[in-house]
Amino acid sequence: MARIAIIGGTGLEDPDIFKDKTEVIVGSTPWGEASKIWKGKLSSVEVFVLSRHGKAHELSPSQVNYCANLWALKELGVTHVIATTACGSLREEYAPGDLVVVSDYIDMTKTRTYTHYGTSKSGPQGIAHVPAKPAFDVDLRKLIIEVMRGAEDLSFKESGTCVVIEGPRFSTLAESKMYSGFFGGDIVNMTLCPEAAIAKEMKLHYASIALVTDYDCWKESEEVSVEKVLKQMKTNAANAVKVLQKLIPIVAEKDWTAERMILTETINGSVM
Ligand code: ADE
Repeated sequence: MARIAIIGGTGLEDPDIFKDKTEVIVGSTPWGEASKIWKGKLSSVEVFVLSRHGKAHELSPSQVNYCANLWALKELGVTHVIATTACGSLREEYAPGDLVVVSDYIDMTKTRTYTHYGTSKSGPQGIAHVPAKPAFDVDLRKLIIEVMRGAEDLSFKESGTCVVIEGPRFSTLAESKMYSGFFGGDIVNMTLCPEAAIAKEMKLHYASIALVTDYDCWKESEEVSVEKVLKQMKTNAANAVKVLQKLIPIVAEKDWTAERMILTETINGSVM
């Protein structure tokens, strides 16, 4: 059995898709306040939903308290996190409107707290050298891909490497070309790191569904803007919700005992 949380990114912060929704008060964590969390039902399964950027999108990607958010979810008994995020495309084939089951990342962020070990007096101490390959939970990704394959009229990619930038500005043309060329990235966003790594450290099964909103700026005659991102997110979010409605009961009912044991052993063996 699994206890699931959905992290809602830009455009997917509306908890109204959940039935019987109530706000959950977790209190302060060793890293301070977490973003807003709700409890509600999706396809009759109780899930938590955390609004990454806050209730009114008041937190920039660098201000999001990733350690506090994931710790708060853990305190609520969450075992599985399905994160959603808006992203730009670095290649023609990843078109606005596509959903991407992210398979890897390149961390280009600069100013964040990258681990929950030893970064708060009242949090766990020590140093964790956690393997970042695989970057996401293998079995959770498989289930997401299966659901997407079974969905009608859904344009999606089964894998994609995400370059994660500090933001809040979008990339320069030179950066965008470097990310797709030399780096080999497929998509670009601002929040996947350090969220994915900290989730793994906290023994959470974590996968990310990225929603392509724009072609970044590498493509001739394309510009990226907040207006464009938000407009495209409206369509993308509806598709993501359809996937989540099918996915949540499957994840909730699966027996994760073996996978949990492997994750626990990996993390316990990584801490010095
Ligand atoms: N989020 C959505 N579009 C983006 C882009 N082009 N770059 C970084 N983050 C994004």
